[in-house]
Amino acid sequence: MFRRAGVIVLASGVLLAAGCAPKPTPTVNDSMTKVMQPQTQVIWDITSRAFNAKGDGLDGSKISPADWIRLAQSSRRVRDRARILADAPHVTVAKASDTVMGAFASHAGTKQTWDAASAAQVQGLIDADPAGFAKHARALADAMDTLHTATRTRDAATVYAVSSGLDETCDGCHQPFWGTDDPPPFPK
Ligand code: HEC
Repeated sequence: MFRRAGVIVLASGVLLAAGCAPKPTPTVNDSMTKVMQPQTQVIWDITSRAFNAKGDGLDGSKISPADWIRLAQSSRRVRDRARILADAPHVTVAKASDTVMGAFASHAGTKQTWDAASAAQVQGLIDADPAGFAKHARALADAMDTLHTATRTRDAATVYAVSSGLDETCDGCHQPFWGTDDPPPFPK
């Protein structure tokens, strides 16, 4: 009897300790490579297979029941991760061991608009405007929430509206915080 009680006390102590440890916020790089990119690819693959004959919308009958489930899962995963990034008190770009795409082409010092960015430079851009970064993360979360809701009623028109604008939602954050499409300034 005593022994059993002891085990229970010990077990709940372990649970408590595990519950108290703050969960580290996933990095931007982890989010992009493990969630945003692969899950968005699922959404794009399904929607591009479902174009209507005119090519100006989706034909809901071309989205299989299994694909509706995949759409729901992927939109939920992207939404939840985007919310974590939006709500995080501090966002870390990458772990030291991570490779940030294009970083090898970056220059030292302040990033010029047309330069590739290193992880440190991206970190500097986010730290200089955390609210702006959160706003873009929130925009992605909201778009994915709309898509997720649309999967419940199999609303292909809304799925089309969200998926066709998704690229811009991603780029809306990439442009200010990662890279740019701006051409170099005209040499004087
Ligand atoms: C709130 C800002 C934000 C949003 C929204 C966002 N990204 Fe990113 N993304 C970044 C930043 C910052 C980087 C550069 C740092 C890095 O590579 O991790 C990046 C880099 C990436 C990379 C390169 C990762 C690597 O290998 O270094 C991919 C791929 C990517 N994003 C995909 C996406 C897709 C797809 C979406 C939209 C569904 C998206 N991102 C939306 C901020 C964002």
